Amino acid sequence: MEKPLLLYIFVFHWHLLNALFTVEAPQSLYTVEYGSNVTMECTFPVNGQLKFKDLSVSWEKKDEFRKDVYVLLKGEEDFNSQHSDFKGRIKLLKEKLNFGQSVLQITDVKVSDAGFYRCLIDYRGADYKMISLKVKAPYRTINQGVVSTGDKEWKLTCQSEGYPKAEVIWQNGGYQDLTDKANTSYKTGNDQLYRVTSTLKIKSKADEIFHCTFWNKELQENISAILYVADSAEDILWTKNRRFVGAILIVTALFGSVLLFMLCIGKELYKNEDERDCRGASFEEEELQYKQIEKT
Ligand SMILES: *[C@@H]1O[C@H](CO)[C@@H](O)[C@H](O)[C@H]1NC(C)=O
Ligand SMILES: *[C@@H]1O[C@H](CO)[C@@H](O)[C@H](O)[C@H]1NC(C)=O
Ligand SMILES: *[C@@H]1O[C@H](CO)[C@@H](O)[C@H](O)[C@H]1NC(C)=O
Repeated sequence: MEKPLLLYIFVFHWHLLNALFTVEAPQSLYTVEYGSNVTMECTFPVNGQLKFKDLSVSWEKKDEFRKDVYVLLKGEEDFNSQHSDFKGRIKLLKEKLNFGQSVLQITDVKVSDAGFYRCLIDYRGADYKMISLKVKAPYRTINQGVVSTGDKEWKLTCQSEGYPKAEVIWQNGGYQDLTDKANTSYKTGNDQLYRVTSTLKIKSKADEIFHCTFWNKELQENISAILYVADSAEDILWTKNRRFVGAILIVTALFGSVLLFMLCIGKELYKNEDERDCRGASFEEEELQYKQIEKT
């Protein structure tokens, strides 16, 4: 109920006093990194001592729906209408109000915080300004993989995460573009960051290098990695090594499963547990071991 009242007051004053009272935004665009804090500000005229009781301040985010970020109504903070997106992450620096500054702090910035904010002030007149917030999460490190898939055949993988979406460009040592041959997939989690995985399957002679570049078009940022395709002698050694480690892991996995199975049987003597649990557990175990093989 309080909210429409504020809007009503706003509209009413807008017509009467709009020329006398103006809100300014010293900075109309803020660009911050994911996970950091941002402080956005708008200013309004205060002549003399601020009368808190006459002051209403609101910050709203303009999404498909309007979301309340912060409300101070006639000098009283009101968190009832605050949208759940912002719970626990919002602070208005109240001491700044005395100087005619409405300073909003958002902590632990999310990708979803990006957008347009309305800073509205009602103090013997009313006005607002729009401020826009951009959030970026640079692609910082690239995880890379080089796997031999056959005779002079390779699978190269580059993986990274960030925001916004990055394109992955592939080149060989001579900077020839190989992007057409690559396969790039995008996944997003709750944090809305993109997990980008790009795979290039290629025939290559020994001793070649390849580049993968994560091109964040919107931020005009590039990072790249260099992948080395090993020389054949080393490659054989490496493959042998892999086989050796692989064999050990398989033996460990088998032994682990047998042990687990026996443990389960043992347990069943005491408890009437479902046999499936046992199978499920040992299967997971094997999968884990398998992943370790992949990694080496
Ligand atoms: C953001 O603000 C919170 C609370 O004021 C503080 O604990 C945290 O260290 C700040 N984080 C950064 C990255 O400055
Ligand atoms: C790309 O990946 C998709 C899904 O994994 C697969 O169906 C497709 O064949 C791949 N394309 C190339 C060129 O590797
Ligand atoms: C990033 O890489 C792309 C593709 O290689 C290139 O077109 C673009 O100019 C680069 N941008 C910057 C800022 O380096």
